[in-house]
Amino acid sequence: MHKKAYFDEKAGNWDSLIQDEVILRLKTMVEELALPQGSKVLDLGTGTGVLIPMLIEAVGLSGGIVAIDFAPQMLAEAQKKYQWPNLEFMEGNAEDIPLADQAVDEVVCNSAFPHFDDLRKAAQEMFRVLKNGGRVSVLHPHSREYINDLHASLGGAVKNCMIPHADVMQAIFSEAGFENITIENVTQRYLLIGRKVSI
Ligand SMILES: C[S@@+](CC[C@H](N)C(=O)[O-])C[C@H]1O[C@@H](n2cnc3c(N)ncnc32)[C@H](O)[C@@H]1O
Repeated sequence: MHKKAYFDEKAGNWDSLIQDEVILRLKTMVEELALPQGSKVLDLGTGTGVLIPMLIEAVGLSGGIVAIDFAPQMLAEAQKKYQWPNLEFMEGNAEDIPLADQAVDEVVCNSAFPHFDDLRKAAQEMFRVLKNGGRVSVLHPHSREYINDLHASLGGAVKNCMIPHADVMQAIFSEAGFENITIENVTQRYLLIGRKVSI
């Protein structure tokens, strides 16, 4: 089964699979990002919009959120739950993001990066849509090892969806143009941050 069909099939049930503890961990991670009030954020691979209320809280009424996913059923679940004046949903692929150059201040990508078929292209697209000075945050509420073992054990469409080793992640993001790249990989979180300094 193709990955898009895999996620569409899971959409109706997705939220029931997310534990409260994981939501709390994500809240903490988003708070630590300290997204500036008023900033425009791309939630790439938004799924059922798990991050959306946290992003709304962070950016406030003067901010904006674009939530993109390639699986229409996942997006439909997110749309059922969240309506907000400055929240826009778009169906689109991370490897060909349907946004203009320099459209957003922040890209956040929770639990989606290893699912993209071409990781290098996705990182280049994140760089392209960010404004100068913008930041990318690739996050998971689990360690890299946990995620990779989980995907291997689930098998099927996600069996090869792996977070590469830190050296490879550094290379992917620096070759895409990002600077000041940091990677944190501990038991209950994975967080890569990179900055688009200037072009
Ligand atoms: C594991 S889910 C995570 C969803 C959400 N971010 C969350 O925290 O629950 C991965 C999401 O990435 C989306 N996705 C996978 N590959 C994609 C791609 N190439 N472009 C856009 N979205 C993609 C899937 O449809 C799915 O909704």
